[in-house]
Amino acid sequence: MSWIHSLLFLFLVFPWCITGESSSPEVTDDGAPMDKSEREALYSAIQGFVGDSWNGSDLYPDPCGWTPIQGVSCDIYDDLWYVTELTLGLVHENSLSCTASLKIKPQLFELKHLKSLTFFDCFTSSTTISKEDWVNFGNSLESLEFRSNPGLTGELPETIGSLSNLKSLVVLENGFSGKLPRSVCNLSSLKRLVLAGNSFTGTIPDCFNGFKDLLILDLSRNSLSGTLPSSIGEMVSLLKLDLSNNHLEGKLPQEIGLLKNLTLLDLRNNRISGGLSQSVENIRSLADLVLSGNPMDSDDVMGVKWENMGNLVILDLSKMGLRGEIPSGLIKLKRLRFLGLNDNELTGTVPSKELETLPCLGALYINGNNLTGELRFSRKFYEKMGTRFKASKNPNLCQYDIVSESPKYVLPLGLKPCKMKKTEGDLVILQTLSNLKKEESSSSMSLRVTRHVLSKGFMWDLLLELSFIVLLK
Ligand SMILES: *[C@@H]1O[C@H](CO)[C@@H](O)[C@H](O)[C@H]1NC(C)=O
Ligand SMILES: *[C@@H]1O[C@H](CO)[C@@H](O)[C@H](O)[C@H]1NC(C)=O
Ligand SMILES: *[C@@H]1O[C@H](CO)[C@@H](O)[C@H](O)[C@H]1NC(C)=O
Ligand SMILES: *[C@@H]1O[C@H](CO)[C@@H](O)[C@H](O)[C@H]1NC(C)=O
Repeated sequence: MSWIHSLLFLFLVFPWCITGESSSPEVTDDGAPMDKSEREALYSAIQGFVGDSWNGSDLYPDPCGWTPIQGVSCDIYDDLWYVTELTLGLVHENSLSCTASLKIKPQLFELKHLKSLTFFDCFTSSTTISKEDWVNFGNSLESLEFRSNPGLTGELPETIGSLSNLKSLVVLENGFSGKLPRSVCNLSSLKRLVLAGNSFTGTIPDCFNGFKDLLILDLSRNSLSGTLPSSIGEMVSLLKLDLSNNHLEGKLPQEIGLLKNLTLLDLRNNRISGGLSQSVENIRSLADLVLSGNPMDSDDVMGVKWENMGNLVILDLSKMGLRGEIPSGLIKLKRLRFLGLNDNELTGTVPSKELETLPCLGALYINGNNLTGELRFSRKFYEKMGTRFKASKNPNLCQYDIVSESPKYVLPLGLKPCKMKKTEGDLVILQTLSNLKKEESSSSMSLRVTRHVLSKGFMWDLLLELSFIVLLK
């Protein structure tokens, strides 16, 4: 047989070899070659979490082969299958759901090629994780996640610092408390560190100088206190920094300005008092800046050159005790979608025409200030914004004639049209007018004004004409 025939033969008999399937390991009739001790360790480990009635060898004789277990993934090392990913808890309907009386069995730590370990909604009754053999995972584990385990209490074990290959540590919404273990500083390969939604206390360790690859740092919703360490500025790759809802205080370290790739900075609901204008305006990449609920120095915030932060999409400066006029730099932020200025002590007029021209603006909150004068937003604008526009609780603010265009139109809640007779300002004007009438009842000018006011009610027109009369006198 010539070579061309052999080639044809190969094509016909083994077509799958040509279609480019990656070389799969030899699978025998007895199942994939899985190390026996690895298999036993997997069964024991899982049984610890799901309960003794779970019989792995019975249900899943070939867990890396033809009887896969939901939440278990495998890979081949030295021609044998090993478990690389293990997810416990209710992720899918047929997931390994944990029993209330679960045990972390030592066999878990015998899975020597485990790269990813996740517990989701698994620990429901009170459990602490203390002296487990995390060291055994030191060279393998790349991702460790505890998500939504209300039963996980006590401190995060110090041994977590031995997981030197960890790229992602997610400890989200559990019951952990106490200080952050100092050993977290050893995890310098991390790309993602999320410890949000626990009850951690104490200060943020000043050790981020090694974290050159970190992209996401989320310590929000804990009870962390103290000031922000200046080493935070050395996480040069950082994209998201969320420290919201803690008890952090002091000034923002200027070094935050070194985070040139940062897109999100969320510090809401802390007690941070300043340092903004020297740091944040240098971060040109920032898209989301949320500072609400911090008692920041008003001059500091108002001193930021907002016009330089053209990538801002979300800007929340509410509840910060801000004084003065709405900064003019804000109306240069063409990408802005959300602007929160509510519950401050802002005064002066609202640049409504300019704000309305911001093409993306979809939420604007200026309620709870002491803004004055007329808003000149169009009806179209209010219709676009819906309930995402609030201007109430500004006693001296009204909307310029929009209702008379269409009497059925209802202004956003708490906003009054400037011509409403009920307002204090109008009453004063009407009073002035009646005094005027008494004095100069024969003046045709004043009669004209009166008729104009009563029929149309343009307060500002009236004011102008009143001053005109006064001048004539
Ligand atoms: C699991 O089932 C097998 C039979 O399929 C049995 O031999 C074994 O003892 C059972 N193991 C447990 C732990 O119940
Ligand atoms: C952290 O690193 C230090 C020094 O590099 C080492 O002494 C310490 O044992 C490590 N901690 C853990 C928990 O591995
Ligand atoms: C910042 O982002 C740019 C573009 O995405 C990237 O090339 C650069 O490496 C990043 N800088 C750091 C320090 O990660
Ligand atoms: C609001 O501003 C007016 C002056 O425009 C001032 O008289 C008033 O006291 C201010 N109200 C508050 C609550 O600051």
